[in-house]
Amino acid sequence: MVRSFTRLAPVLAALCLGTSRLSSALPSPAASDDIASLLLARQSADNTSASGINTNNTADCTNCTNLGNFANPIPVSSLDPVVQVRNGSYAGITIAPIAAEATLSGFGTNGTQEAFLGIPYAQQPVDELRFQRPRSLNQSWQDVRSAKRYSELCFGVGTDDDYQPPYVTYKLGERCLTLNVVRPARQDEASKLPVFVWIHGGGFSYGGSGDRRYNGSFIVDKSVELGQPLMYVSLNYRVQTLGFPVGDEASQAGVQNLGLYDQRLALHWIRENIEAFGGDKDKVTIVGESAGGASMYFHLAAYGGRDDKLFRSVIAESAYYATGLDTANNTASRNDQWTSLAQYAGCGSNSTLECLRSVPLETIKQWSINNTELSIFNPVVDGDLVAKDLQQSFLVGDFVKTVPVVLNNNLDEGISFGVRGVNNTADIVSALEESQALPDGWSTQDALRSLAQIYPDNEDVYPPFQAGAGLLPATGGVLGKNDRRSCAIFGDLRFVGPRRQATELLARSSQAAIYSSRFDQVSYKSPITAGAQHFQEVAYVFRNPLDTQNALGPLRKDIALANEISAYWISFVASGDPNTARDQGKLSDGALYWPKYDADGERSQVAWVHDGLGHRSFVTPDTYRQQGMQLLMALRSGTFKPSDFHSSHTKRDEL
Ligand SMILES: *[C@@H]1O[C@H](CO)[C@@H](O)[C@H](O)[C@H]1NC(C)=O
Ligand SMILES: *[C@@H]1O[C@H](CO)[C@@H](O)[C@H](O)[C@H]1NC(C)=O
Ligand SMILES: *[C@@H]1O[C@H](CO)[C@@H](O)[C@H](O)[C@H]1NC(C)=O
Ligand SMILES: *[C@@H]1O[C@H](CO)[C@@H](O)[C@H](O)[C@H]1NC(C)=O
Ligand SMILES: *[C@@H]1O[C@H](CO)[C@@H](O)[C@H](O)[C@H]1NC(C)=O
Ligand SMILES: *[C@@H]1O[C@H](CO)[C@@H](O)[C@H](O)[C@H]1NC(C)=O
Ligand SMILES: *[C@@H]1O[C@H](CO)[C@@H](O)[C@H](O)[C@H]1NC(C)=O
Ligand SMILES: *[C@@H]1O[C@H](CO)[C@@H](O)[C@H](O)[C@H]1NC(C)=O
Ligand SMILES: *[C@@H]1O[C@H](CO)[C@@H](O)[C@H](O)[C@H]1NC(C)=O
Ligand SMILES: *[C@@H]1O[C@H](CO)[C@@H](O)[C@H](O)[C@H]1NC(C)=O
Ligand SMILES: *[C@@H]1O[C@H](CO)[C@@H](O)[C@H](O)[C@H]1NC(C)=O
Repeated sequence: MVRSFTRLAPVLAALCLGTSRLSSALPSPAASDDIASLLLARQSADNTSASGINTNNTADCTNCTNLGNFANPIPVSSLDPVVQVRNGSYAGITIAPIAAEATLSGFGTNGTQEAFLGIPYAQQPVDELRFQRPRSLNQSWQDVRSAKRYSELCFGVGTDDDYQPPYVTYKLGERCLTLNVVRPARQDEASKLPVFVWIHGGGFSYGGSGDRRYNGSFIVDKSVELGQPLMYVSLNYRVQTLGFPVGDEASQAGVQNLGLYDQRLALHWIRENIEAFGGDKDKVTIVGESAGGASMYFHLAAYGGRDDKLFRSVIAESAYYATGLDTANNTASRNDQWTSLAQYAGCGSNSTLECLRSVPLETIKQWSINNTELSIFNPVVDGDLVAKDLQQSFLVGDFVKTVPVVLNNNLDEGISFGVRGVNNTADIVSALEESQALPDGWSTQDALRSLAQIYPDNEDVYPPFQAGAGLLPATGGVLGKNDRRSCAIFGDLRFVGPRRQATELLARSSQAAIYSSRFDQVSYKSPITAGAQHFQEVAYVFRNPLDTQNALGPLRKDIALANEISAYWISFVASGDPNTARDQGKLSDGALYWPKYDADGERSQVAWVHDGLGHRSFVTPDTYRQQGMQLLMALRSGTFKPSDFHSSHTKRDEL
């Protein structure tokens, strides 16, 4: 039985479709992708009507900042900062303090910094190395190489990669397996700075480290101000068609999950080389959001939870399990899509991988642009790095148990992912069935009864929580009487439930401290009905004052919250304890103490918010919609028992 193309779609397609059109009826899987995609497009573009696939940015990109060091090196000068890594030396750039007036939020940086951009951490995956696991670098050189520009982003398709002037004009390509290092000026091997490693999101379908929303200068500056200086590293990994080949041939060749192997190799490179920059290889924290958050789960669970000592702590923002990962048992269901690509490229032979290595990127690009709705180019169980489904890995305890972990989700994740245009339980159940987020056969009478009782038909109690009661406004002409309820269910199933379950399981069996938080702020460019949705916390974590699609903005409440959140993140990266800056009196009076998560006790988590009217971040029990999330996680893992659930009266004040 060939399974639906869109099995993984809602979460992932939502993150990867660039264009959108709205359906007026109950969305088909494809249409529901489009709705979610529209929402994301809205959050990531000021002007969605101007968005569209950029068919130019694998080629000319005259004004792009990420032209890289391979073909377009900026000449090296004797004044440049230089580091000597294992293979040879690199010259970086000096970043003068950034003027406050140059930014939307009205602050800049105080200290001079140095950055080394576009440094390859692997052999570039071109020609015969395309569709291969990444190969370690094996050459050295004597001269000083230029590391002064972000490399091209790994080719992908989706909102972050679209051409959306004036913000996004990134060059995409294959010579992308690079990383960037940003540090306070004048460090040496004795500095031993803690290292903040950022792994971007984008549904494993798009995105890249050169994205200005991931500009590390401002968090590095804050770390200096707090007396806990750190080094920022961001990296690219292959995404979409080139990063996650599917089907039997890829499975047999062992070339699935390439993007995850890229990340892993980058972490090895960091361990081998970061001391040369003044970093401490034993103080590496990996941080990621969305697909980057899911990547945090993959690394915690990698190789059955083996501790390779690549990181000493983890921050997972809006991580997800998504739907059950494909396994060797059903990889054949993806053969049709792979064959479609091969045929388009004129690769009729039975070694399509071999043939596809020799076609121009342009050919793969043209096919990929038209086939984003498939959203199938994603991680699978490969029996190697990915030993099993993520939820199963957590449930059976196959994860690294020695590292502190912070897990954050946003209050209204579901607003980004709920299927819209639904009016009642039956509509929601159909949408769940079509999403294939739950295993076959989940929708028994008992399960449906529990779902309807635990998530009652009452729009007043669901996200977006700060938008008052009642129906959500129509989205693109579609008005559903149960859209908020749908957003709650989809958000809990895909993001909030997995976050809570992973937090509980980590807290119960890890030897290290586990911390949880929830981001409640409606950000500057979000309408109140979009809530504190997916991705919104990123600008606050980065304390990024630049004008972007998700800008922090100029309001004092947002700047105060950014200073607060970034201080807890920096403290955690610097010391493994998010409270260090607060304990040292570096934060304002009344700055909260962030307790460890006790799954069988208080279940305390931080809710991040500054409303400008005196309402500030607070500690709160992580118990809202408890029965609902337990139900959804039980349904997902196939362990639902009706007797575990009784009718629950969801109330707004559970928050
Ligand atoms: C929900 O109701 C709206 C109008 O009230 C209608 O347009 C829409 O088709 C309904 N949705 C479904 C799935 O029937
Ligand atoms: C959005 O883009 C369209 C077409 O490119 C343009 O006409 C319009 O002025 C833009 N609107 C804004 C608010 O920038
Ligand atoms: C792509 O390039 C063509 C020709 O160079 C140009 O006409 C078109 O406007 C460009 N499109 C975008 C989105 O930049
Ligand atoms: C590139 O930048 C120059 C100078 O700002 C501008 O004149 C030109 O139109 C830009 N080109 C594109 C394709 O955006
Ligand atoms: C090049 O660097 C890589 C990554 O650190 C290292 O594993 C490899 O041994 C180096 N090779 C040479 C020849 O320097
Ligand atoms: C420099 O740091 C001080 C606090 O130490 C801060 O008040 C000021 O805004 C910072 N300047 C910039 C440009 O960020
Ligand atoms: C480096 O590895 C590539 C294949 O991955 C190989 O073709 C090349 O010969 C190697 N170079 C050296 C210097 O070992
Ligand atoms: C961050 O953005 C500022 C302003 O555009 C720029 O000067 C700086 O070089 C950027 N920092 C990094 C690390 O890219
Ligand atoms: C594949 O199917 C076999 C036979 O049904 C089953 O025993 C095995 O657990 C399945 N493997 C995975 C990874 O699902
Ligand atoms: C293609 O498959 C056939 C039989 O299935 C086999 O005989 C042949 O060697 C294969 N060719 C290649 C290039 O793998
Ligand atoms: C992509 O779709 C467009 C519009 O339907 C079509 O003109 C074009 O030929 C398609 N390209 C590929 C590679 O399928």
